Amino acid sequence: MLSIIYSAGLSGIDGFLVGVECNITDKMPQFELIGLPDAAVKESKERVSSAMENNGFGFPEASITINLAPADRKKEGSSYDLAILISLMCAAGMLRGSPELGHACFIGELSLSGEVRPVNGVLCMCLAAKAAGMTEIFVPKRNAGEASVVEGVNIYGVSDLRALLAHFDGTAPIEPTVFDRARFRAEAARSQLDFSDVKGQEKVKRALEIAAAGGHNILLIGPPGTGKSMLAKRLPTILPEMTFEEAVETTKIHSISGMLPDGVSLVTRRPFRAPHHTMSAPSLVGGGSNPKPGEISLAHNGVLFLDELPEFNKNVTEALRQPLEDRSVTITRTSGKVTYPSAFMLVAAMNPCKCGYYGHPTHPCTCKKADIKKYLSKISGPLIDRIDIQVEVSSLTFDELSAPVKSETSAEIRARVNRARRFACRRFEEAAEENTGLPLICRNADMSTRHLGLFCRLEGEAADLLKQAYDRLGLSARGYDRLLRVARTIADLDGCESIESRHIAEAIQLRSLDRKYW
Ligand SMILES: Nc1ncnc2c1ncn2[C@@H]1O[C@H](COP(=O)(O)OP(=O)(O)OP(=O)(O)O)[C@@H](O)[C@H]1O
Ligand SMILES: [Mg+2]
Repeated sequence: MLSIIYSAGLSGIDGFLVGVECNITDKMPQFELIGLPDAAVKESKERVSSAMENNGFGFPEASITINLAPADRKKEGSSYDLAILISLMCAAGMLRGSPELGHACFIGELSLSGEVRPVNGVLCMCLAAKAAGMTEIFVPKRNAGEASVVEGVNIYGVSDLRALLAHFDGTAPIEPTVFDRARFRAEAARSQLDFSDVKGQEKVKRALEIAAAGGHNILLIGPPGTGKSMLAKRLPTILPEMTFEEAVETTKIHSISGMLPDGVSLVTRRPFRAPHHTMSAPSLVGGGSNPKPGEISLAHNGVLFLDELPEFNKNVTEALRQPLEDRSVTITRTSGKVTYPSAFMLVAAMNPCKCGYYGHPTHPCTCKKADIKKYLSKISGPLIDRIDIQVEVSSLTFDELSAPVKSETSAEIRARVNRARRFACRRFEEAAEENTGLPLICRNADMSTRHLGLFCRLEGEAADLLKQAYDRLGLSARGYDRLLRVARTIADLDGCESIESRHIAEAIQLRSLDRKYW
């Protein structure tokens, strides 16, 4: 007999529907699995037969052919086990209750005893299954939370083969898993870290607020123990909360990387990724024979924090240049080409020299001039050029540290960031309607030259000030654009339509460090 059951495969962060066809004839007993399966898919025969036998079903003594369609796409991993088993049982006439499975999709790995084990990328596969018209999706129980994010389909979390068969014959129907949107909002707002933990450093906090409002990259530079790491870790708490769509996008990447904790449906808070400086370029941008997302994609819609920037290998930091511009990364391997989104905010921190005290007002620096140069030259000009804001984090005085003043909370800062973003978004929306072909963006950091021409025209004093700065700082054309973008964000925080000279002045302050150190 012939049967067809649906499952789903993965290509990058996108899923695709796979038809698992099974044909059983009473010719010479044999088992064949075709349709470009990799080794893990081929091994599913052993898991399927053992799961059947351990649940009281004999593996059919017949000629069995299983085809995974479309036959021209590579099938990887163990997630087809469940669909292969159901297709086989259907073709062998072993399923009781004759369930209607024309719009059902099965995803999951089997253990030898018939337990349904979690797999990576369930969210991406469920989105594809829904788009292909599936209405019921059976997933491993531990992936049900993540799958339930897909609305308009019934998601069934399956613990083992016995539970699934009991669902089909009606003896113990499985309750569909339902996603709780209210909980998503509540979780998104919660965080253990807060800006009010950080004493003083008002100048740095202001710079981080500007960075958050415009989505600008930022470099913190200063002696050890001044709170650089502490401040950077708190940046996600002042970024606008993730929208549902952003959360889904980020979750897809975490899902295919197998990084979603058990029972978690969505990545509700903006990711904060802080990879160690010994990392390799492929683990930063993604790669491997079966390309996996790197840290820059895991940080999608959130923050990538590179602490001790000069300690990173130069080839690692240089690999950031292209994704920083494109906000996505394409990895080419023999097994194919995949593109992963990587819209992250780069936050980097560093000491100004090896001993850490170059430029410190009281603590003497023990480094030689040449060593300081060498230390700083580990970060290339083009990378520094891509970091819109650079601030010095200096040591706190005893009074600042011990003063009982209450610092602003993250919620207060975030309210201003949100207001500035809304102000900018409205402007971008109107412009996209009025100017055909102008892409719709929502962060000032993403403004193209066309956007700059529309929204960052300077007049009078502001224009003069910028001209002076251009000559004095020896800016590149890119540096000039970046300064304008930061000034635009400062004006947005101020609620101003036009960029005034005070906004330009503050933007210049925020990028004068490359003159001092580089
Ligand atoms: N402004 C501050 N307010 C409160 N505590 C602070 C502040 N700055 C530093 N600290 C304390 O000092 C510790 C060290 O700070 P942090 O690790 O952020 O320093 P750093 O600048 O990253 O140093 P390094 O250059 O060595 O990495 C913090 O964990 C915190 O306890
Ligand atoms: Mg640190």
